[in-house]
Amino acid sequence: MTFAYDFSLQHLLGIEGLNRLDIEYLLDRANEFVENRTPEQSLKGKTLINLFFENSTRTQSSFDISAKRLGADVVNMSVQSSSVKKGETLVDTAMTLNAMQPDLLVIRHGSSGAVRLLSRKVDCAVVNAGDGTHEHPTQALLDALTIRRRKGRIEGLKVAICGDILHSRVARSNAMLLHLMGAEVRLVAPPTLMPSGTETWGAHSTHTNMIEGISGCDVVMMLRLQLERMHGLYLPSKREFFHLYGLDKEKLSHAAPDALIMHPGPMNRGVEIDSAITESANSTITEQVSMGVFVRMAVLDALARNLDRARAEASA
Ligand code: CP
Repeated sequence: MTFAYDFSLQHLLGIEGLNRLDIEYLLDRANEFVENRTPEQSLKGKTLINLFFENSTRTQSSFDISAKRLGADVVNMSVQSSSVKKGETLVDTAMTLNAMQPDLLVIRHGSSGAVRLLSRKVDCAVVNAGDGTHEHPTQALLDALTIRRRKGRIEGLKVAICGDILHSRVARSNAMLLHLMGAEVRLVAPPTLMPSGTETWGAHSTHTNMIEGISGCDVVMMLRLQLERMHGLYLPSKREFFHLYGLDKEKLSHAAPDALIMHPGPMNRGVEIDSAITESANSTITEQVSMGVFVRMAVLDALARNLDRARAEASA
């Protein structure tokens, strides 16, 4: 059973703002959902709206499945056929949806900070499903759950996050969470794809040499090259990138022998990762997707409880 802990947040906007106990609570709760195939219908009578302004396979469908498993009604807003296409502003869209009194709003948007802005305009609980290059908190939580289940701990592990750090919301959320949980976080990228200020994320070190960066690591987390966010020339070619920064058998041999191979997906096979190693026993890529459902159940369950409490207090 999850330890008694008062997870009190109204929204999940990022890993920034969470403390170690918040994270442990959510991971323990998610682990309970992994073990329990018939969970309590804690979202029965509640409505969740998925509002995705950017493409998604894993995140949107797993929020849909997670919410339904807990008994919620789910509306998947199609932004492509919505009034956004007629020029309605982001804030007007959010306030229109808010007027229908949903309980939970899950938002993905291409602009950093957009989800926080919307959370101030609505009465329901808001979950950040990825905002620009800022944060993707549920991805970091599901990655942490995967690591903890495979390795039995996070504290003391050496984790290398490799690839397009500059355009990645996954890198920032993961670095912050893993640092909070006591891991040593190394960032590996070409100089053009390494942002400044990563020490504020809790990164222990940065490396432009991949062999040096992943040497002795317990976890090697690869990131997608986010070509759609690149306005300019960051790389000589994808082939050159793979040669220097793509994870293949030879580079992996410098990590710990039992190192986990992680990727949040979607993957560019043969660009940031060699297809052959995605299928190996130490690859957790499919498991990460499975853990996403349980982590999102834990997040929705916790936020719905806090929403009920806030509503009860407001009407008392
Ligand atoms: N990892 C991740 O966010 O995947 P999707 O873009 O498919 O949701």
